[in-house]
Amino acid sequence: MSHDDFPTDRPAVVTCGLPYANGDLHIGHLRTYVGGDVYSRALERLGQETAFVSGSDMHGTPVAVNAEQEGVSPEEFALDWHERYAETFPKFNVDFDNYGHTHDETNTEITQQLVRDLDEAGHLYEKEIMVAYDPVDDQYLPDRYVEGTCPYCGAHARGDECDEGCQRHLEPGEVEDPESTITGNPAEYRERTHKFFAVSEFADYLSDFLDRLEGTSNARNQPREWIEQGLQDWCITRDMDWGIDLPGENPQDLVLYVWVDAPIEYISSTKQYSERVGADAFDWEAAWKEGVSDDHPEGGEIVHVIGRDIIQHHTIFWPAMLEATDHAEPRAVMASGFVTLGGKGFSTSRDRAVWADEYLDEGFHPDPLRYYLATNGGFQQDVDFSWEKFAERVNTELVGTVGNFLYRSLLFAHRNYEDGPDADAPSDEVAARIDEAVEEFAAAVNDYSVRALGDAVTDLARYGNEYIQRNEPWKLVDEEPAEAERVIYDCVALAKAIAVLFEPLAPEKSERLWAQLGEPGTVHEATVEAAREGPAGDLSEPTELFEQVEDERVEDLNEKLEARVAESEDGDGDESDDDGGEADGSAADENDDDTDDTDMTDIEPLSDDRISFDDFQELDIRVGRIEAAEGIEGADDLVKLTVDLGAETRTIVAGLKQLHDVSDLTDTKVIVLANMEKAELFGVESNGMVLAAGEEADLLTTYEDAGPGTKVK
Ligand code: MSP
Ligand code: ZN
Repeated sequence: MSHDDFPTDRPAVVTCGLPYANGDLHIGHLRTYVGGDVYSRALERLGQETAFVSGSDMHGTPVAVNAEQEGVSPEEFALDWHERYAETFPKFNVDFDNYGHTHDETNTEITQQLVRDLDEAGHLYEKEIMVAYDPVDDQYLPDRYVEGTCPYCGAHARGDECDEGCQRHLEPGEVEDPESTITGNPAEYRERTHKFFAVSEFADYLSDFLDRLEGTSNARNQPREWIEQGLQDWCITRDMDWGIDLPGENPQDLVLYVWVDAPIEYISSTKQYSERVGADAFDWEAAWKEGVSDDHPEGGEIVHVIGRDIIQHHTIFWPAMLEATDHAEPRAVMASGFVTLGGKGFSTSRDRAVWADEYLDEGFHPDPLRYYLATNGGFQQDVDFSWEKFAERVNTELVGTVGNFLYRSLLFAHRNYEDGPDADAPSDEVAARIDEAVEEFAAAVNDYSVRALGDAVTDLARYGNEYIQRNEPWKLVDEEPAEAERVIYDCVALAKAIAVLFEPLAPEKSERLWAQLGEPGTVHEATVEAAREGPAGDLSEPTELFEQVEDERVEDLNEKLEARVAESEDGDGDESDDDGGEADGSAADENDDDTDDTDMTDIEPLSDDRISFDDFQELDIRVGRIEAAEGIEGADDLVKLTVDLGAETRTIVAGLKQLHDVSDLTDTKVIVLANMEKAELFGVESNGMVLAAGEEADLLTTYEDAGPGTKVK
């Protein structure tokens, strides 16, 4: 079965992965929320009835452990963060229709009902399992209360996930060599009775579901492997006080695992929205339940926007829960790549992150960050944040392309035509180009590509720049005034289309543009049809929409970030990466932090310019041994080296003096590009080049005992 293209006549629900109410939000989190907000706004522009919901994830050990460390109750702690998040999202123009939290009455009720339904349908059973227990503290240690070794890859892991290694979800009892994260006490395993959800029974259903699932390819493909490897049933209870009580008989006082009640908040939050606006405006049951609506008994269009670390929860456990309880199945899962710094995951505990508040405190407008996060690479690609790259995108695309087109055409229009240029409709050429942009926009929505939404707009603005340049209205205005007016009317029509199509990515800037164009109402209610209708308003004097980010600003921001990152690298404190975001999802190499002083923000992207093997073979790279090293008079950082290259001994000049203790260099093995062209430096002829890494000239050497003259290949 394939889905009809958007817009459809079913109600859509766009959800964002709930943030744990346990600490500051960083721009990595924002990728989920901006992505969801952009997508839901884009659906609405297409005319799709859409609810956009999320809420704070209040339960579970991520919250309980942090609250305990702060010495406050988990409820007080989580509610405090919840309130802060509810205030932060609007500052980024992330405009949820409802933002609830998992500890409220709606979610408690719906969760307990859903678990009862699972039980009545025979999908739950009890099993004795071993759970970690701190004998000194007399406390059970679920999930993040315990740390140890991943049984699959051997990396250091949390009790519930291999966050630094293979990223697998870990069931209770799986982590090896367990220790309490609170006391550091070694833990023992004790037998307890827990409730399990028979996920394994849903393997066939889930395989079929994945065939139908839309969204990013990581979310559609990765789960197949997990199914092929055999699904384990899922323990849905925990030995904790904080959480939603297991309904029914509960002699051990268990609470539900946080990952049971968290996604149910998607339903609860939609219900709260319906209750606020009325079921006529949005019917949560028709969207979430099967068989409620006569027109679409399968339910609505559910689109989950998340980060790639929680794909398994959204494509295995959650759809199985929905299927088992006659709920609508998700239509799509959009899983974003991670935002990293210098290729490493953000770390809240180590202050290695760019914080949401920090960005705003620097005085930046939210829309450029939205644009950057949504359009940097494909949605599922990891993005290594740097202020340079941010500035470059803002300056070339937002200022140079979009802003420039809007400002030059609207200024010209405003100066020459007081009430706006007049024409019946845009020219055929421009009307066709706007149609094309609207089609690209719709295709982007159906491809789940927020990046392509951005391209649709920047391409249209690029066309606008080319159009105004080609038609030169400033030359026509005296001799062919009618033609000049037609051209500039076309430009204003393009500007209006940009306002509509840019609304999802840059809602506040688009609204300002809408006002400059003198269009009635708000751009937030305009659908793509408005992009095709010629402009009608009285223009007001335009101002520039986007601000250039100056080089000095970037330097300043870089310095601050580098200082913080360096500090986070120094400490030997908490190594754990709180959001599991290693760039490549492979084992983290955090233990050598003390020696790794690479300037993280300077890592360049790997080159796309490939060379052939033949080209490589032209490089004569050899192992050498330094026989002697001495400074060169007058040259601050150069050293004259005598290097044994097996077949001959060469003199090579290298820029190492300030970075290495020259007297230590003798006898060091080095790697030399032997056929480097000769160069004379401070009167010394250098015959070859010694290879070193980075600004600090970290010398390359050999791993074992390859001797002088050995070819590197
Ligand atoms: N509470 C769970 C989600 C429950 S959904 C039913 C959770 N919370 S979180 O606070 O850790 O993450 C919130 C969202 O931010 C998730 O979508 C997560 O994938 C995303 N990200 C967290 N750190 C991130 C990056 N560094 N980069 C990109 N996305 C990241 O997971
Ligand atoms: Zn692992």
